[in-house]
Amino acid sequence: MCGIVGYVGKRPVEDVLLPGLSRLEYRGYDSAGLAIHEGDSLKVTKTAGRIEALTEQLDGQKSGGSVGIGHTRWATHGAPTTSNAHPHLDCTGDVVVVHNGIIENWAELKKGLEKRGHAFASETDTEVVAHLIEDMGDAPLDETLRRVMQMAEGALALVVIRRSDPDTIVAGRRGSPLVVGRGDGEMFVASDIPAFLEHTRDMIVVDDDRVVSITADGATITDIEGNEVPVVERTIEWDLDAAERGGFESFMLKEIHEQPEAIADTLRGRIDDSGAVKLHELELDDRLLRAIDKVFVIACGTSYHAAMMAKYAIERWTRIPVEIDIASEFRYRDPVVDPRTLVIGISQSGETLDTLAAVRYAAAQGATLIGVTNVVDSALARESDAVLYTRAGPEIGVAATKTFTTQLVAMQLLGLYLAQVRASMDPGAIEYHIRQLNDLPTAVSKVVATSDEIKRMTERWTEVRDFFFLGRSGDFPVAMEGALKLKEIAYVRAEGYAAGEMKHGPIALIEEGVVVIGVATDDHVKTKTLSNMAEMEARGGEIVILQEEGDNGSDFADHVISVPAGPDLICTVTAVVPLQLVAYHVATAKGLDVDKPRNLAKTVTVE
Ligand code: AGP
Repeated sequence: MCGIVGYVGKRPVEDVLLPGLSRLEYRGYDSAGLAIHEGDSLKVTKTAGRIEALTEQLDGQKSGGSVGIGHTRWATHGAPTTSNAHPHLDCTGDVVVVHNGIIENWAELKKGLEKRGHAFASETDTEVVAHLIEDMGDAPLDETLRRVMQMAEGALALVVIRRSDPDTIVAGRRGSPLVVGRGDGEMFVASDIPAFLEHTRDMIVVDDDRVVSITADGATITDIEGNEVPVVERTIEWDLDAAERGGFESFMLKEIHEQPEAIADTLRGRIDDSGAVKLHELELDDRLLRAIDKVFVIACGTSYHAAMMAKYAIERWTRIPVEIDIASEFRYRDPVVDPRTLVIGISQSGETLDTLAAVRYAAAQGATLIGVTNVVDSALARESDAVLYTRAGPEIGVAATKTFTTQLVAMQLLGLYLAQVRASMDPGAIEYHIRQLNDLPTAVSKVVATSDEIKRMTERWTEVRDFFFLGRSGDFPVAMEGALKLKEIAYVRAEGYAAGEMKHGPIALIEEGVVVIGVATDDHVKTKTLSNMAEMEARGGEIVILQEEGDNGSDFADHVISVPAGPDLICTVTAVVPLQLVAYHVATAKGLDVDKPRNLAKTVTVE
């Protein structure tokens, strides 16, 4: 996820682009840049760091230009350095591009361009677009962009300016957001409405596979073949604050809704046409992965729940023994680690000190380290032998939501990849699971759409003092995560427990007024979980069963939540979403600030 803004009009362009970028910082903030038409040239200013750093670099100087584009980045290809910051130029400095999305076939396109003599200045996927346009010569810019969009696979929102077209901005969209704003003798283009809402409320909708040419007087939109399509305008009703949250009440709710897109990004370009997993970015020797005889997965908090799921996935698919550890405990138990050990550290921030300390300890014993993180070039990414990025985009809410579901997906990809390399799983079974992963964005969208039902179910729970979340096997980490969400944002005691373990003690706590949520989607154990839940019902608990669509056996429950049916580990992703919504609705009904829960920090850098 990145933020794009473009302006053509009469104002000093910096006065529009810089505030516009600041309002898009929620989309990414590791580097930023501007490109402005200045006389006969294009002036590019960019830097690593936030918009503040870019503003400082410009030091109040105005170019005098009134056409330009800007970008705030959340890295997916290449570290968040100045050279990887957008905008990106072609070889001649004639074409400048900003991009939000992932170009899946960029490496292939880059190879071809290099063969034709193009020199690259960054490690990004985006730069290929500038060189492709250069390669196409003097054809009209909108035509070249359409051709580029036909060649580039993946998600794109592209905004381009060219030295020889000083009055025009051309933009294209496929799979990544892009909106156009119409002012009086001025036009705007951006990833999201807040970028221009202080200037205009008149918005033009840009659909997928469209290219839009913008001058100060208006916009022309064509489809990917070049046929003109009608321009549809809308009036924006939101105020600025609401617009920044995409109209959602909070960033957490927005991030819950972003999960289908985030999961699609996690999968993007990592599965080839034959249905095999390709994780080229790991760059680990297959011989090394075949020699591994033990795996540790280490993490904290929500990421630890992803580690719990990873244990099931890796053990089931590779038959390598997997141990999981809470990072702050790992070093103190003198674990047996050696050069045949694979250590996987999971951390959305990549900066959690407990996790870093643990993986450093393991690396010092000679283990191979794979980091799974959402932040490119984070400490975990830098210190790992190989990195798998979750590509969830920035998460502003303190409670992890989309970064968790993308961790689950990334860990399943990694598990399947190990199985593929070690030939421990039938290729047909790998392909089957991959098809299920590919269906997840749609399945998760369906679950997110049940938010109002969940809200109705939770309405009377503001006074409930005790919750239990129970599950077995793949449902167990989901239950743990459901409990953690409720604790951290609704400040209510919530226990995540292995359903079968309740009878060994905690069942003594079940009485009227206690809500017990049983996650029963894992086919191997769901009937056992239902029996355990019946025991909770017999003790007076208010019973919620979270099951797959079409399941029965839950007639004794007070409430039933259904998620689309799927193989066990696939259901970990869909099943956690209603629990995120449970926590969200209980917390908001109590009037709590879900984005900034008390006593918590998004990234914990102390031991
Ligand atoms: C999740 O909702 C929490 N805020 C917290 O448990 C978090 O998962 C934990 O601190 C680990 O963070 P990391 O993934 O950035 O390492």
